[in-house]
Amino acid sequence: MTTQIQIDQARLFNELNTLATFTDAESSTEGTAVTRIVFSADDLRARAWLKDLAAAEGFELRDDAVGNFFIRWPGTQPDLPAVATGSHIDAIPHAGMYDGTVGVLGGLEAIRALKRSGMRPRRSIELVMFTSEEPTRFGIGCLGSRLLSGTLDPGRADALEDKNEATLKSVRTAAGFTGPLSSVRLPANHYHAWIELHIEQGPLLEREGIPIGIVTSIAAPAGYRFTITGFGGHAGALLMPDRKDALCAAAELILAVEKHALATGAIDTVATIGTCEVHPGAVNSVPSRVFLQLDIRDTDPDRREAVMQAIRRDCEELRQRRGVTITEDLVNADAPAQSSPHVVELLEHICKEQGIPCKKMVSRAYHDSLFMARLAPVAMIFIPCRNGVSHRPDEFARPEDIALGARILAQALAKLASE
Ligand code: GLV
Ligand code: MN
Ligand code: MN
Repeated sequence: MTTQIQIDQARLFNELNTLATFTDAESSTEGTAVTRIVFSADDLRARAWLKDLAAAEGFELRDDAVGNFFIRWPGTQPDLPAVATGSHIDAIPHAGMYDGTVGVLGGLEAIRALKRSGMRPRRSIELVMFTSEEPTRFGIGCLGSRLLSGTLDPGRADALEDKNEATLKSVRTAAGFTGPLSSVRLPANHYHAWIELHIEQGPLLEREGIPIGIVTSIAAPAGYRFTITGFGGHAGALLMPDRKDALCAAAELILAVEKHALATGAIDTVATIGTCEVHPGAVNSVPSRVFLQLDIRDTDPDRREAVMQAIRRDCEELRQRRGVTITEDLVNADAPAQSSPHVVELLEHICKEQGIPCKKMVSRAYHDSLFMARLAPVAMIFIPCRNGVSHRPDEFARPEDIALGARILAQALAKLASE
């Protein structure tokens, strides 16, 4: 089996480079900058290109009402629950070219390599490209996998708005993905097992010289929105004692988030305010309103909630001291996911058999696998990325590491498809 599966490393690397050309990002001196927001012109071009690649192999193709795209290689017993892999191709603003794409194109190459090896799987093997793993456009990540796993109410999903107040329903319909979102959900026995290949997005594998990470759990993400409203006006005429500067209050809130995340003393607590919209946003106007988005994660959801409670206490103090109002809206508060011991052991076994060093690890980033775990036994394969950098144009993974990840994936899919 091992020797028959040959990953075409050059082709895979070329395809990753081609996919990176479907981008809204301006060129960057830092590396290959990619911006590919869900249902933008570049996202739609990338999807069409991927569809052509898959069609050329004669796979069965399907997309659902939210634009999740399924590429299926039918097994000899196509009625059995399939084995599946996949990831996303959308990219946050000014990101790199490997996040998600390695799992989609690496997954495609893994399936092609199995096909070239002459094997015919018992169970079908399926590749899924998820819609909007990134939260950039609609404010919530993993839209496609949330809907597939029945985690997000279809009505709430359709009503989500982007910054131009276009709803998901209108945007997906314009992109050609119609039909009720309730039809996206898959039954619990749809997949026999699921594996996602992804760059680590952290420094540990590279630092320790280990080429393969096996993810045993995925930390629990949550998202909140804060709107701070004060009293603004003319930057020259509004006297300092009369101001209720919303941005000054927001600055204190941002620092409170950092302080309370650090105070847990746990390396697994992380909290970020990554956006800040200032109204009216003029150099000579005292800010009257600020909108912040908080991303907070932890392997322990109770500890995450304790940090939120501490942040809320500081908000109350800020309200009183600065005379501002602060509203908090929940976007999502998800549970962590555990990998399946069976799939983890299989990956470990495959690595050990071939003398490939591997390491069990936690994923602090979230992935569609967080939600696929609600549908099927899952695990993830991590490969190193340079300096642990991700969500930046200088994100880089070595072609040989990507190819090795794709090969381990192919071997695991073949084994799971024979069960
Ligand atoms: C995924 O992109 C994440 O933010 O973890
Ligand atoms: Mn990402
Ligand atoms: Mn990703």
